[in-house]
Amino acid sequence: MKKYLIVGGSKGIGLSILKSLIDDHLIINISRNEPPIKHNNLTHYKIDILMDDLPEVDTLNGIVYCPGSINLKPLHNLTLDDFKKDFDINLLGAIKTIQTYLPLLSKDGHSSIVMFSSVATKLGMPFHCSIAAAKSAVEGFVKSLSSELAPNIRVNAIAPTITNTDLANKLLRNDKMIDLMKDKHPLKKILNPEEVGNLAVYLLSEKSSGITGQIMTIDCGLVSLKI
Ligand SMILES: NC(=O)c1ccc[n+]([C@@H]2O[C@H](COP(=O)([O-])OP(=O)(O)OC[C@H]3O[C@@H](n4cnc5c(N)ncnc54)[C@H](OP(=O)(O)O)[C@@H]3O)[C@@H](O)[C@H]2O)c1
Repeated sequence: MKKYLIVGGSKGIGLSILKSLIDDHLIINISRNEPPIKHNNLTHYKIDILMDDLPEVDTLNGIVYCPGSINLKPLHNLTLDDFKKDFDINLLGAIKTIQTYLPLLSKDGHSSIVMFSSVATKLGMPFHCSIAAAKSAVEGFVKSLSSELAPNIRVNAIAPTITNTDLANKLLRNDKMIDLMKDKHPLKKILNPEEVGNLAVYLLSEKSSGITGQIMTIDCGLVSLKI
């Protein structure tokens, strides 16, 4: 059975990835809260990725790093500390994870690392300065690391538009806000965590064996279409 490490499988997109994989794979989850499911294939470590030491594990076939942030403010209200916090959780936590576990990733040519960016790197949107900067750093890191680790390990990122998870709950507080958000998208919808999780599961699997160094946009048409 293949073994995957998920950082952030307790909720949101990470939980949907965990649920998709758990019956047929061994899953090691790292998050501050326990995932809301019990399964013989699941090992959970209660860990803050930025603060705590990481557990020792055996050989892995893939890593998914899910923690992120949505801290939307005009530039004059963003402190340098806001920028540092966004950089820490979106990028440095992933670097800590990958540096720790890279030696354990199988060199069979099928190992895969998946990270998360955002449509905010492609589309200039007001109040997104901090998250756009942090996620642009994620994208640069993914591009560079994918070339460093080829041909043994693939590295990709997913850049979703707004997805109905706890992280986005301030932007989706009521039906009116949800409808307004749907209306901004050419497909007249927003994403659910499963739609994004499915893409991550694909990128982890051998079905995507020709894909590395990509930032895969899943945007309900927001960035790509003008209609
Ligand atoms: N939702 C959106 O609209 C949206 C849009 C664009 C991009 N994204 C990106 O997609 C990714 C996943 O987003 P999501 O909406 O699924 O987020 P989420 O609902 O906030 O889930 C994040 C996961 O990361 C874990 N986590 C957060 N901080 C952690 C820490 N310090 N240590 C350990 N675990 C930590 C959380 O678990 P605990 O709280 O239990 O620790 C949770 O399992 C993020 O990188 C986000 O930036 C999301």
